Amino acid sequence: MEPAALVTGGAKRLGRAISLALARDGYDVAVHYNHSAEAAEQLAEEIRRLGRRCETFRCELSDTSAVERMAERIRDTFDGWSVLVNNASLFERATLTETDESLFDRLMSVNLKAPLFLTRQFAVLCRRGRIINLLDTKVSEELTSHLVYVITKKALLDLTRLTAKELAPDIRVNGVCPGLILPPPGAEEGYLEKLASRVPLARPGRCEDIVSAALYLLHSDYVTGQCIFVDGGEHLR
Ligand SMILES: NC(=O)c1ccc[n+]([C@@H]2O[C@H](COP(=O)([O-])OP(=O)(O)OC[C@H]3O[C@@H](n4cnc5c(N)ncnc54)[C@H](OP(=O)(O)O)[C@@H]3O)[C@@H](O)[C@H]2O)c1
Repeated sequence: MEPAALVTGGAKRLGRAISLALARDGYDVAVHYNHSAEAAEQLAEEIRRLGRRCETFRCELSDTSAVERMAERIRDTFDGWSVLVNNASLFERATLTETDESLFDRLMSVNLKAPLFLTRQFAVLCRRGRIINLLDTKVSEELTSHLVYVITKKALLDLTRLTAKELAPDIRVNGVCPGLILPPPGAEEGYLEKLASRVPLARPGRCEDIVSAALYLLHSDYVTGQCIFVDGGEHLR
């Protein structure tokens, strides 16, 4: 039975890098996507060329019953499903006074509710395995410009620790807190370089830096409830 991993939001950007790294590490891959059907299919082809099995699964993550059905389909498709990477996320700028109910519900459902219910389904269906949650270095500060986004990631940090405790010893749960890695889509030229002045290591990171941390956490059998900052020291500010 081949080991298999689900990466949510796996078609593009960091999710794509993690999906490819898992394939190179010997995993069959379930690539979840929502709007990026074409990118997901291209990635699936690339993974198949590496000699691994890959299937794509479309799901709107704010729909909890659809999330649970997707987990069942993945379990039916991959006997060896043993890794869950909660990577999909919404990043929206809004201070408290700019926040409305729909933004709150959108961010909470994708960034927190979906990882929670996927974790629950994974635990029920697979019983053993490893989970990696993608957090953000911003969990270490009180950044009011992205108030709800930061709240969701702080809560996901707590969810990582709580589920690591509840699901031990059969399932290990860890997190990676990226810093400046990829600019948000549509960001102006030089976005990362401009912000890098606040980073102790004075430069943006690369997708491979996040991938290395995720693989370390997957391979480290005595590590659970851990969140690694991969942010050039940004959390030290
Ligand atoms: N990029 C960075 O430098 C950075 C920094 C700090 C933290 N992080 C964290 O690292 C992770 C990956 O970052 P990223 O920038 O690569 O992510 P991203 O591009 O912002 O989002 C990844 C994917 O999430 C999926 N998604 C969003 N809303 C969804 C919904 N309602 N239903 C289903 N899927 C949905 C999208 O899939 P489709 O395209 O298929 O719709 C999207 O491609 C995120 O958790 C992020 O918070 C990233």
